[in-house]
Amino acid sequence: MKIERFDNDDVLAATLATRLIAAISLKPRIVLGLPTGRTPVALYREVRSRSHRGHVDWSQVRTFNLDEFVGLGAGDAGSYRSYMQAELFDHVRIEPLNVGMLDGRAASLAAECARYERAIERAGGLDIQILGIGANGHIGFNEPADALDAKTHVAALQGETRRANAGLFGGELGRVPTHALSMGMATILRAQEIVLMATGAEKSEAVAGMIDGPLTTRLPASFLQVHPRVTVMLDRGAARRLT
Ligand code: GLP
Repeated sequence: MKIERFDNDDVLAATLATRLIAAISLKPRIVLGLPTGRTPVALYREVRSRSHRGHVDWSQVRTFNLDEFVGLGAGDAGSYRSYMQAELFDHVRIEPLNVGMLDGRAASLAAECARYERAIERAGGLDIQILGIGANGHIGFNEPADALDAKTHVAALQGETRRANAGLFGGELGRVPTHALSMGMATILRAQEIVLMATGAEKSEAVAGMIDGPLTTRLPASFLQVHPRVTVMLDRGAARRLT
């Protein structure tokens, strides 16, 4: 793992935005795996502001988001689809057909998960997967457990994760869905390259475990240790417990 420390969130976001935009110009048909959450907000702000200036050709870029809440989709406030539209897709000239999102309202969730795996495969796999990390060490919605799912699946959300997502639902925990669809561990680990961003001291324990701890299903992000091309980008708070 390559570990990079930044003085603050803005420098981290600007650095990753520069790299992403360079990757898009090197490979216009790049396939990106994208995260939601508070952490990538600064990244998307930076990317869309540079895209406005016409520096980025999004016309052939393909994206797949990591996860979505069960029961929610386009038009639902609180859905990751709405988040992505607001933070990025509404501001760049990406082809709607090139945007891959899980549909949390699909009639058959199992069929939707299988469709997503096939779509990623047909796109040639993920070139770069960008990740955040949960305070409990989850990536996507792969929560700590005795065993982890390899493929895209329906995930039951832990209390801590639902609380962390309450901001999307006006702070009302009762409105946060109990389940989500998520790429699996193998879906993520098959990406050619992975970049994990973490900011804030509340992530420092999970970050330290991910980097220095054992491989364990109790800290799903620890599996990134087996991937040959992972960059971990941290602010001071998130890097606090590293030796
Ligand atoms: C959420 C998402 C993850 C995200 C993580 C951290 O629940 N499912 O993909 O990386 O938790 O979120 P945040 O960046 O808001 O701390």
